[in-house]
Amino acid sequence: MIISGKELSARLKAEMAERVATFPEKYGRVPHLVVVLVGDDPASVSYVTGKAKASEVVGIRNTTIRKPDTITEEELLGLIRQLNEDDTVDGILVQLPLPKHISEAKVIETIAREKDVDGFHPLNVAALWQKQPCVLPCTPKGIIRMLKTAGVQISGKRAVVIGRSNIVGLPVAKLLLDENATVTIAHSRTEDLPSLTRQAEILVVAIGRPKFVTADMVSEGTAVIDVGVNRDPETGKLCGDVDFASIEPKASVITPVPGGVGPMTICCLMENTIECFLAKVAPKA
Ligand code: GUN
Repeated sequence: MIISGKELSARLKAEMAERVATFPEKYGRVPHLVVVLVGDDPASVSYVTGKAKASEVVGIRNTTIRKPDTITEEELLGLIRQLNEDDTVDGILVQLPLPKHISEAKVIETIAREKDVDGFHPLNVAALWQKQPCVLPCTPKGIIRMLKTAGVQISGKRAVVIGRSNIVGLPVAKLLLDENATVTIAHSRTEDLPSLTRQAEILVVAIGRPKFVTADMVSEGTAVIDVGVNRDPETGKLCGDVDFASIEPKASVITPVPGGVGPMTICCLMENTIECFLAKVAPKA
């Protein structure tokens, strides 16, 4: 079965739109997400456009601020501090990656924790690993939602995550662990990776290499989540980290690229923006 992130996210966004439509009467306004894009990398431009479109569907106010890649680190940090102070802004997202002269760590820690819709702030990350309430990072949150919706039992399963980034690999491993899977975190240089991945009942791949996972690495009945977004060197088309054509017949469920994890990431960003908004306008006692 192919898990369509596109369809699931469309359904969830429609439900969110209904909720958000009640906000002006209840709270006097709708949530406001500010997305900052530095430079004009085509992939980043496309992601940011996707975030603006989803905001429109859900009824969230979106402001996209574009800055040239000549902006200094201090100028960017100054912009973030201004947005932190701005009471009309509920969520702040700075699209990554950033130009080399700007420290991503400094940018992430400058965003006010309560407006950190990405869940990247060190205090959010710490809260996640300490099982405290926090904003969950969008891609890992979307992956768990897809597995559950597809009826994949996570508890008691052997999960292998290939990739150890702060954005996907590490947090998705943590969320799977919290769902009582037994999790192994691997990477592209893990020795004898195929014998490890063949033991996986849930396989999440997030390393950014076209068709890195081949059919011999996957056992019959595995749930396969492909986080990769790459260009196929032969066809120039978008492709994942997984060789979809040869693995799809073996997998119990599999996510396509495009139309799998990507739309769910954006959907969870909408959810996080609503969460940050509600925490501000309707804080629980
Ligand atoms: N670049 C790739 N994925 C992401 C994401 O989830 N958030 C941000 N801010 N930048 C990204």
